[in-house]
Amino acid sequence: MIPLAQMADAVLRTADGREKTALSRRLAAEWQAARDRGDTPEIGMATPPLHPARPAAPELLSPRDVPRRRPGTPEGRIALLHAVAHIELNAVDLHWDIIARFAQVPMPMGFYNDWVKAADEESKHFNLMCDCLEEMGSHYGALPAHAGMWRAAEDTVDDFMGRLAVVPMVLEARGLDVTPGMIEVFRKAKATSAVAALETIYAEEVAHVAYGSKWFHFLCGRHEEDPKERFHTLVRTYFHGALKPPFNEEKRAEAGIPPDFYWPLTETL
Ligand SMILES: [Fe+2]
Ligand SMILES: [Fe+2]
Repeated sequence: MIPLAQMADAVLRTADGREKTALSRRLAAEWQAARDRGDTPEIGMATPPLHPARPAAPELLSPRDVPRRRPGTPEGRIALLHAVAHIELNAVDLHWDIIARFAQVPMPMGFYNDWVKAADEESKHFNLMCDCLEEMGSHYGALPAHAGMWRAAEDTVDDFMGRLAVVPMVLEARGLDVTPGMIEVFRKAKATSAVAALETIYAEEVAHVAYGSKWFHFLCGRHEEDPKERFHTLVRTYFHGALKPPFNEEKRAEAGIPPDFYWPLTETL
């Protein structure tokens, strides 16, 4: 088995979406099997690309140039699932990137277990969204998608705690806020497979946010820093703009993010 950082690098360098997720799931299963045997696999080192390889389609546009479609129409619902597929593919790369990018920071095995598991789930989420799109006569790549999704990774390329603060604890936590509304859209349209897929995503994303919070607190403890203050400083440094209520306080609490972490960030300083 190749060291984990090199597995991560291989996923990042695979361009096609379905191929990327297939490799991601296969490597995650190898890692899990080794852990189940009681092995302590090597983490190793890698030099991940600054931007992960991505397919030629979708065309990436600035958010203001991506056409808006109303969710009350089939086209609108396809566009919504396409946007989620794009987020999930980005999430696959984000989870492997944190492993490869910060491989030199010594971390307990549990950190890698969590991130490999989450990367595997993101891969499943992308596949689920692709399946739904195909069922509706479309596919990932058929519509333009947001450019700039990788910005959070670039901004925190040399700040491990910044990465944890912005990616799982801000961006993935935002997913918990908006997903119930999205599920309602598909429930009204009686799109049962999309409802089931989004419910899987919603349930599994709580754990991803929780992993972020757990390891952020771990690193604060290691450096004897106050987690809330450190979180506020990092989000104000690396995240552009204010956080937007309404928040899903219940799921955020379940994921270990208390209100005094996010409410003060609803105002830009
Ligand atoms: Fe996901
Ligand atoms: Fe996630």
